[in-house]
Parts: sequence; structure tokens; C-alpha cells
Amino acid sequence: MTRPACGECRWNPEEYARSSSAQTGWAMELIERLAPRQGESVLDIGCGEGRVSAELARRTPGVRVVGVDSSPEMIEKARASFPPDIHRNISFEIMDARSLAFQDSFDAAFSNAALHWVKDHPTVLRGTARALKRGGRLLFQMGGRGNGEAVFEVAQAMIAEDRWRQYFEGFAGWIRTTWMPYTQRVPEHLHEPFIREAAARYAARHPMEAEKA
Ligand SMILES: C[S@@+](CC[C@H](N)C(=O)[O-])C[C@H]1O[C@@H](n2cnc3c(N)ncnc32)[C@H](O)[C@@H]1O
Repeated sequence: MTRPACGECRWNPEEYARSSSAQTGWAMELIERLAPRQGESVLDIGCGEGRVSAELARRTPGVRVVGVDSSPEMIEKARASFPPDIHRNISFEIMDARSLAFQDSFDAAFSNAALHWVKDHPTVLRGTARALKRGGRLLFQMGGRGNGEAVFEVAQAMIAEDRWRQYFEGFAGWIRTTWMPYTQRVPEHLHEPFIREAAARYAARHPMEAEKA
């Protein structure tokens, strides 16, 4: 099955901030591993609404962080939450991961929970290599093949049914990522019913006790 990119996804920063505790947890682990050193500059690719970039900057004095993201909504929220007159060592740019416009600028490149949204990883990697100074470090976390397979099986079965099919017509094979590409196909008043039903079916197939056993 083809893995979709998410050029059509519109991110809602407020909703993301409310429901991204898993991503934040992964980011904290990643920041520990990156262990930025005083005075270093860090590029955060797919920075979202800026919380993780801000945490990177907060942890180590003198670190400079530039967050880039292709979503204008996310960058607008990041700038509003971490304004440059207060957070002088953080800045945010609207920029696609496939066209990073930096040269020999960073000691480290960091990305959390973002690059599985992006097709064409070789281009991202070339841009990142250009953006890094000689000897720079790279630490990327993203979903990989097989992640969430059971959830996607449920979704695939659901969208084949009469009730949901109409919203997915013409998109055969276009169903392998997190929930946003699904819910954005379904009218807004049906987002919650769709998600609740998917969660219930997933739980029925994979009961907690069975998972633990
Ligand atoms: C799940 S959020 C992760 C945000 C943040 N890194 C975090 O850990 O909370 C994924 C982010 O990837 C961004 N993204 C998706 N495709 C992108 C692309 N081609 N270039 C840059 N950012 C992209 C989205 O706009 C979104 O903000």
C-alpha cells in the first residue's frame, strides 16, 4: 500500500497541543539523547507549534534553536507562544523539510514525529547535510514501516463500509498514516463518531488484557 504524504493536511495547533502527549514524550527522550551543548545551534525540522523547540532552548543555556515547519498555522502559533523579544534564542520559519534553505549553519539537526509525513527523504537528508556544520549531529525520530499496522487495518475496514466510503472515494490506497488524513475527509460533525468507532473496534480486536498477556 502506498504511504501518503500529507501535503493536504491542515494542522490545528491548538488541537495538536491538546492531544500530543505521546509526541511530547518522544521529544523529551530525544532531547536527552541529543544533549545540546552550551553555545550550539540546533535546527528543529517539522517543529510544529514550537513547544519542543522551546524545551530544547530552555534546557541548555546559550543554545540557539531555529524551528521550521511547512504549516503556516503551526508557525504562527509558535511565534505567538514564544515571541522573539522574550525568547531571543528561538526563531521559527515557514519552510518545507524538502527545501531547507541553510548552509553550514547548525551543530545539530533534530526532528521529532514529523518526517513520516514527508515523502522524499533523500532530499530532506541532502538539505540537512547542507544545513549542518562539518561534524554536525543528526537525530531524527519518526514512524517507520509497520508502526500502527493494527490501527490502519481497522481504518481500512471502516472506510470500505457504506457509511464511511463516500468520504474516501477516489483515494484507494491512500490510507496509511495517523488519523488526520481520515478525519479531514469526513464532515466535521462526524469526526468524533468516526474516531470513537475506530477506537472501539481497535479495542475490541486488541483488548488491553490480551496485549499484556
Ligand atoms: C506531529 S507534528 C510534530 C511537531 C513537533 N515536532 C512535535 O514533536 O511536537 C508533525 C509536524 O510536521 C510538519 N510537517 C509535515 N510535513 C512537513 C514538511 N514537508 N516540511 C516541514 N514540516 C512538515 C507538520 O506541519 C507538523 O507540524
